[in-house]
Amino acid sequence: MARKKIALVGAGNIGGELAMLAAKRELGDVVLLDIPAKEGVAKGKALDIMQAGALDGFDAKVTGTSDYKQIKGADVVIVTAGIPRKPGMSRDDLLSINLGIMRSVAQNIKKNAPKALVIVISNPLDAMVYEMKKVTGFPRERVLGMAGALDSARFQCFIAEAAGVSVKAVNTLVLGGHGDTMVPCLSYCTVGGIPVTQLLDKRTLSSIIKRTRFGGGEIVELMGTSAYYAPAAGAISMAESYLKDQKRVIACAAYLEGEYGYKGIYLGVPVKIGAKGLEEVVQVKLSADEKKMLKSSANAVKELIKAGAKL
Ligand code: APR
Repeated sequence: MARKKIALVGAGNIGGELAMLAAKRELGDVVLLDIPAKEGVAKGKALDIMQAGALDGFDAKVTGTSDYKQIKGADVVIVTAGIPRKPGMSRDDLLSINLGIMRSVAQNIKKNAPKALVIVISNPLDAMVYEMKKVTGFPRERVLGMAGALDSARFQCFIAEAAGVSVKAVNTLVLGGHGDTMVPCLSYCTVGGIPVTQLLDKRTLSSIIKRTRFGGGEIVELMGTSAYYAPAAGAISMAESYLKDQKRVIACAAYLEGEYGYKGIYLGVPVKIGAKGLEEVVQVKLSADEKKMLKSSANAVKELIKAGAKL
């Protein structure tokens, strides 16, 4: 059986880490694509990873290119093309620059990888993934945005630290847009199956929620650019669930068709990801408070899409 093919559009910080993870887990052969001016970087990272494979013993062919023909027949395309946030910049400030990039990337994916599952990471995420779906015309099953996996992981980390337990014992769910309006759902947060509200006090939990909301910003302030290890790990978990038909339930940005009361927008919700891509938007009961937060998150996403439509 031929190996699966994973195309990565954008060979920057996240793109490089995506390539490393995909190769290390032997998910398939990897094509790292960037603009012609960065073709050397794409090729260099590809070679570096191949050589790491010789040491680590993984079989995957990794190549770098700026030619979209090389992504032909890709099973999965993960998009990080764009510019990342600089200190003081909000994700929304990125809108106009990254929207133009997304439109051209989407056209190239439509032409060269019409059967692929597309996972968008570029920010502002909810607007970028919306544009990807619009331009490619792919069904919602095959266009997802990576955000909830990352936001849930951040929430998970902070809870594990506060509770003094292994991160593996913690389960979390973060809904809503990938921005400061995200909705960390305490009602679905457990430590070894025990509701977190029974283990941590209200003050600790509310400071964890605050930190999760600004989890991206915290890293931008520290590093001068946005995070890349955890975002890459988030997208790889989605790609793996698709390629191996694992049917994991992962929070991600999905195009809603009435679920949770919303239609025609991308919003972070729990999604069962399997061989068909999005197989189900899992609908969970939300408290009145969570519904209110989800609404303001959806409104922020709608504003972003409206602003994008004018550009
Ligand atoms: N086609 C392909 N690649 C492109 C294009 C394009 N049209 N335009 C820009 N790129 C490339 C850049 O040359 C760069 O190598 O996208 C890459 C982005 O990499 P980084 O600048 O290192 O950014 P990164 O940290 O990987 O984040 C990428 O994901 O989380 C978001 O906010 C983040 O929008 C940003 C994106």
